[in-house]
Amino acid sequence: MLIGKPVDVASTEITPEPLFKRRRALLKAVGLGGVIGLSGWSREGWTTESLHKPAIHNIQKTLYGQDEKLTSYRDITSYNNFYEFGTSKEQPSRNTGQFKTSPWTIAVEGEVLKPRQLGIEDLLKLAPLEERIYRMRCVEGWSMVIPWVGIPLAKLIKLVQPTANAKFIEFVSVADEATMPGVRVPILDWPYLEALRLDEGMQELTLLAVGLYGELLPAQNGAPVRLVVPWKYGFKSGKSIVRIRFVEKMPQTTWMRAGPKEYGFYANVNPNVDHPRWSQATERRIGSSLFTRRIPTQMFNGYADQVSHLYTGMDLRKHF
Ligand code: MTE
Repeated sequence: MLIGKPVDVASTEITPEPLFKRRRALLKAVGLGGVIGLSGWSREGWTTESLHKPAIHNIQKTLYGQDEKLTSYRDITSYNNFYEFGTSKEQPSRNTGQFKTSPWTIAVEGEVLKPRQLGIEDLLKLAPLEERIYRMRCVEGWSMVIPWVGIPLAKLIKLVQPTANAKFIEFVSVADEATMPGVRVPILDWPYLEALRLDEGMQELTLLAVGLYGELLPAQNGAPVRLVVPWKYGFKSGKSIVRIRFVEKMPQTTWMRAGPKEYGFYANVNPNVDHPRWSQATERRIGSSLFTRRIPTQMFNGYADQVSHLYTGMDLRKHF
């Protein structure tokens, strides 16, 4: 990706080049901030405090990630990628003031026997809410450890009963110009669309998250419901989802359309396959000092035991 700049990569290297040029002109035009992309991550620049959200009750603890050191609530909620609210890391937490997450309905449709319109309340009844601590690795080269609260996506898939034609699942995010200032700028092809293969969606790690740190999701993290796919780069985890569609053909996702040579459909974390413009071998854990050594990135973000069988026989350089 991406438009924000990891500390050690020039911003021109991160944004697909055509997007980078378009973006500079557009940001200037709409006044979203002329210095975005030049500033990088600066804690000093933050002015908003993270506001806590209502607590969620009856969360089942799980063993996932118990040995991990958690990223702070503040870092998780103020260093975000959510382009619908702006392209810098700080903008999502600052620009969500008008965004409404209730009422909220998700249309689940396409190649299924039982299409549904689900309210968040319906979703929460599908399965007990679990806390799962996952490592999340962004394609930009940074990572976090996040205690998500959610339900396995598999529960929803079983509810709607995919037909034999259903091979892929699309996840469509909301795109509301009135409350999401980034959507007024054609920087990406809105609405944000991500997708998984059906068996990836059924994989037990794949979550529909509604909270983090035991509280409802803040808007900037994808409230009221987002996808979480921890063995893939963060951009696969679409936020604020309003439509889940089962389809036969591999969808063209937002980032594939924005930069087809740079962002593939699979986007599995893979330290051996570099992004065309930077290495993916190491990562910087958010919260560590800028002078701390980067840590090695693990194959499938460390979840290879659970997911590598999904890709048996595939050339992961070709299917990046
Ligand atoms: N979903 C939507 N709708 N819009 C976005 O811009 N950014 C993606 C992903 N989901 C994005 C999105 C990217 S690039 C990343 S790395 C993660 O969200 C970041 O999630 P976080 O801000 O909760 O860490």
